[in-house]
Amino acid sequence: MSRTPLFAANWKMNMIRSEAEAFFQDFINRPNLGQGHDVAVFPPYTTLPTVASLAGSTPVGYGAQDMHWEDKGAFTGAVSGPMLLDLGCQWVILGHSERREIFRETDSDIAAKLGAAHRHRLRPIVCIGETLDERKAGQAFDKVGRQVASILDAVDAGQAGQLVLAYEPIWAIGTGESASAGDAEEMGSFIRGLVGTRFGESVSASLRILYGGSVKPANIAEYMACPSVDGALVGGASMRPDSFHEIIQNGTTPS
Ligand code: PGA
Repeated sequence: MSRTPLFAANWKMNMIRSEAEAFFQDFINRPNLGQGHDVAVFPPYTTLPTVASLAGSTPVGYGAQDMHWEDKGAFTGAVSGPMLLDLGCQWVILGHSERREIFRETDSDIAAKLGAAHRHRLRPIVCIGETLDERKAGQAFDKVGRQVASILDAVDAGQAGQLVLAYEPIWAIGTGESASAGDAEEMGSFIRGLVGTRFGESVSASLRILYGGSVKPANIAEYMACPSVDGALVGGASMRPDSFHEIIQNGTTPS
């Protein structure tokens, strides 16, 4: 089964509205956008309305970097699924390692958010990955296996087939130190195997797995050559239109 590659730009806590405008004025005119791949941008909440107005009628999708599991109520500082739908979001990132590590989000928080994303028909990209200490201690597969099990507990087979899982080894995020293509493929095929065991071959063959962690124009082709890797979640290199576009170009096989 052929899966459509996905290139996702995680801007994290960067990019005010004028910067997003400048990004889009350049990015949107670049060639082959949306041809043979999906592309989506994840700005901070405050910049989302600007991105919604700029990306609205283009092949570039957009979404939020997080969401709450409840629809409304006394949750100071939080943003809900209906609020994201109100801005036309199609996507949401859940369980990014910075949310897990800095904001202490647990697997059960993320499972609850995943339920909310499905309730509102937002397409989730759920992040998983191990720390350097866990990798050194030989615990990478245990850690990722637990995270994947918790995600799969929260979905049915139909939802699982539509999921996007982003494998992001924490030691490779924002450090300039990327995992080898061999590491990415080994973990990607492990994850796909877990999905297959739970939901069967056809579900595991349709779910998309992204690699994330210091992806750059110079290394994307190596990851895309891995049979289990279907795209990338890009942080630092996604904030410049030239480098994000080059990642997409270098990662998309011409049809
Ligand atoms: P990076 O971030 O590309 O800057 O390493 C990736 C991510 O955190 O999603």
